[in-house]
Amino acid sequence: MKIALGADHGGYELKEKIKQHLAKKEGIEVIDFGTNSTESVDYPKYGHLVAKSVVDKEVDFGILVCTTGVGISIAANKINGIRAALCHNEYTARLSRLHNDANIIALGARVLGEDLGLACVETFINTEFEGGRHARRVGKIEQ
Ligand code: RB5
Repeated sequence: MKIALGADHGGYELKEKIKQHLAKKEGIEVIDFGTNSTESVDYPKYGHLVAKSVVDKEVDFGILVCTTGVGISIAANKINGIRAALCHNEYTARLSRLHNDANIIALGARVLGEDLGLACVETFINTEFEGGRHARRVGKIEQ
């Protein structure tokens, strides 16, 4: 599985924790689109880079982090074909895959903290889309 990571300065530290966590797992390759420090940057750039990587099928999923997860998810969702889900717990992470076939998870570093952030990522990447009636609804989003 290939995963694209992106964050602004507010999400940088959690992104690094996620990267370290994923590096310990077998069969996961990560592309890190930055940012690479806590120096202030503008989140739309990172939302866009990760979203492009997902729609270009360079990766299977994207993970985006900013302070709240709000701005970077809004930015990513401007790209056609992106379903970026702002998740606050394992329940929203799971349902975003089961029902929405989300292809990016967006996280708020100051909302979640490290443990919950990692738990959301684990749930997200390990949950399959349910299809069926949900495929019809996702299809209508794409239309
Ligand atoms: C940066 O200060 C902050 O606005 C950003 O990380 C994000 O939370 C925006 O939605």
